Amino acid sequence: MSTGKEANVFHATDAGGHAKALKIYRINTATFRNIALYIEGDPRFKRVKRATKPTIFAWAQKEYKNLVRMEDAGVRVPTPERVLDNVLVMEYVGDETMPAPSLREIALESPAAVYQDVVANLRAIRKSRLVHADMSEYNLLWWQDRVVVIDVGQAVPLDHPHAEEWFRRDVGNIARFFKRLRVDVTPASLEQAILRD
Ligand SMILES: Nc1ncnc2c1ncn2[C@@H]1O[C@H](COP(=O)(O)OP(=O)(O)O)[C@@H](O)[C@H]1O
Ligand SMILES: [Mg+2]
Repeated sequence: MSTGKEANVFHATDAGGHAKALKIYRINTATFRNIALYIEGDPRFKRVKRATKPTIFAWAQKEYKNLVRMEDAGVRVPTPERVLDNVLVMEYVGDETMPAPSLREIALESPAAVYQDVVANLRAIRKSRLVHADMSEYNLLWWQDRVVVIDVGQAVPLDHPHAEEWFRRDVGNIARFFKRLRVDVTPASLEQAILRD
């Protein structure tokens, strides 16, 4: 379904004929290719470090655990099923004809209602004591009149040194997206909606 920077996502079918989504983190990835461009050939840096296998396996584990923790807190995420090495198995969101589109790919009939759904999910993420840290219209799917939060590998606990900064960035991205759709929202009002009891 997708070829990303660190992982590819596949539509798969299990032994019982049920659709699954497989997120496979790439082992031989040149994640730091762009950075490498500026470092290779510079005699001050002998060797550019690649992400090691254990690091990549830990990343898949982390995405799995973040999905479990968010689902437990009431976030609508693809239900996580298994993780082994660099492979994460989760609920496939979509049908036989297509995977669910992201919010950026579709024209929303009722942006204000979708915004309320996103706020409910952001509140639940907060309840899970995690910060998504890559929240935007790209990582929100739209399926059966509901929002589904994806791509949670980079999510961090609230005590992470960058948690506050990344929370603000997430809030800013979502406020900007819905403001363009003429929803009455500012970063401050969204932050308040997420944090109020
Ligand atoms: N569970 C899923 N069901 C359907 N499509 C998915 C699922 N997970 C990911 N996708 C599709 O794959 C794309 C990439 O997945 P994502 O987790 O966002 O990885 P990346 O880090 O590459 O952005 C998503 O934008 C979405 O189109
Ligand atoms: Mg993504």
